[in-house]
Amino acid sequence: MRNELIIFDTTLRDGEQSPGASMTRDEKVRIAKALEKLNVDVIEAGFAIASPGDFESVQAVASVVKDSTVCSLARAAIQDIESAGQALSKANSSRIHTFIATSPIHMKYKLQLTPDQVLDQAVRSIKHARNYTDDVEFSCEDASRSEFEYLCRIIEASISAGATTINLPDTVGYGIPEEYGAMIKSVIENVPNSDQAIFSVHCHNDLGLAVANSLAAVQNGARQVECTINGLGERAGNASLEEIVMAVKTRHDQLPVTTAIDTQQIVPISRLVATITGFPVQPNKAIVGANAFAHEAGIHQDGVIKHRETYEIMRAEDVGWSANRLVLGKHSGRRALYKRLEELGVEFESRVESDRIFKKFKELADKKHEIYDEDLQALVSDTQTIELQEQYQLVSLEVCSKTGEVPVARVELLHKSEPFDASAPGSGPVDATFKAIESMVNSGSNLQLYSVNAITQGTDSQGEVTVRLERDGVIANGSGADTDIVIASAKAYVHALNLLTSNQLRAHPQTEGI
Ligand code: KIV
Ligand code: ZN
Repeated sequence: MRNELIIFDTTLRDGEQSPGASMTRDEKVRIAKALEKLNVDVIEAGFAIASPGDFESVQAVASVVKDSTVCSLARAAIQDIESAGQALSKANSSRIHTFIATSPIHMKYKLQLTPDQVLDQAVRSIKHARNYTDDVEFSCEDASRSEFEYLCRIIEASISAGATTINLPDTVGYGIPEEYGAMIKSVIENVPNSDQAIFSVHCHNDLGLAVANSLAAVQNGARQVECTINGLGERAGNASLEEIVMAVKTRHDQLPVTTAIDTQQIVPISRLVATITGFPVQPNKAIVGANAFAHEAGIHQDGVIKHRETYEIMRAEDVGWSANRLVLGKHSGRRALYKRLEELGVEFESRVESDRIFKKFKELADKKHEIYDEDLQALVSDTQTIELQEQYQLVSLEVCSKTGEVPVARVELLHKSEPFDASAPGSGPVDATFKAIESMVNSGSNLQLYSVNAITQGTDSQGEVTVRLERDGVIANGSGADTDIVIASAKAYVHALNLLTSNQLRAHPQTEGI
């Protein structure tokens, strides 16, 4: 049996189905480039038929990604397959991932089809998909609650029809590791042509077992794991890529497989996905949480100083936490900045962009003497965010906040180069700022989320703010960073407004009913 484990990332598809997460085409392209750099084998870029926006995103990812296979999801229906095939036409290497539910409860109530009709639809779709690509994946949705004999029958027929990967999702996060692993093993043993396909798993985290179930499946013969950065995904999310990859790397004795992942890219991509989706990473999250490598107890600190392996099973540097986090300061020049950014995997599209980043870096260095990698990453995100802004620009912000008095904010904006300004009171400085902005733009949107994260430690840290606005089912996650959190908040609000007015957003996949 092969011992390479295929990493199939579905951050851009299942990850986007997290309630509230939503990404524009350009944001998806940025994440896809980072996934390619991480060296994932397959990038599921979206669900082409779900909306014109999804189609365009799959198409855009397919045209920029060269080293990873780009995949689109498609229901087991001819129009879905055609849409996926067309969206992927520019890909260097493409995959169509088609699915239909195979559990009695889904077939009876959701699909209202007999098992034979489901099998027939699966076979016809796979054959049709093979007209577009030789790389066709078939998923038995809700496999973990499907009847074993039927599962084997539909898998055998799917492989005969041309499916090269068979995915057995734990769609509702119902599986228990031992049971789920045993199911994978029995399917592989009982399906006569199982040697002609790679078996894959896709686990949801409803019981907090997504990673455990995926690893049990790997121990029982699965050679593809579907996962997402930071464990994003429908409901409680999917298995998190970073946990799967590091478990395999750290416990090779129990999991004798290898991945192609460049693990040093894990923390940078985790931050990128958190910023774009507005889903911050919890501090105690394995691998990518701020505390994942922090030792608090004196006994632990003492042990680590004497011999690191006493309490550390992985090296922070190996997953992209930089060993020497203090990098630059006020006197650092362009060369030092660009070199460090290059080491962090940041690429500039133009001279204008690199100049703008240098200018922002100097401004930040005036306010904050010690600049860490995290600051640089936020600065790059913030600068790229500014590039996306079309309609509104924040010119200035003045806030008066005094004990015992109602705070008032005065904001100056440019709207399509025309200046506007307004003042408004609020229950706090941020509230006043948002009210002042709204009094000028009247966006008609609802504020769904406001969150602030300190990027580094200390009171001079930059605050990274996420603002989630919703209008007519369309969600925009704006972000902004600054050492002044009220300014960061204003930047994030303006960013969200610009996203709302851009033509790149579409209704959330969940409101589309798919
Ligand atoms: O959870 C699931 O079953 C899915 C399939 C479409 C693979 O996301
Ligand atoms: Zn899923």
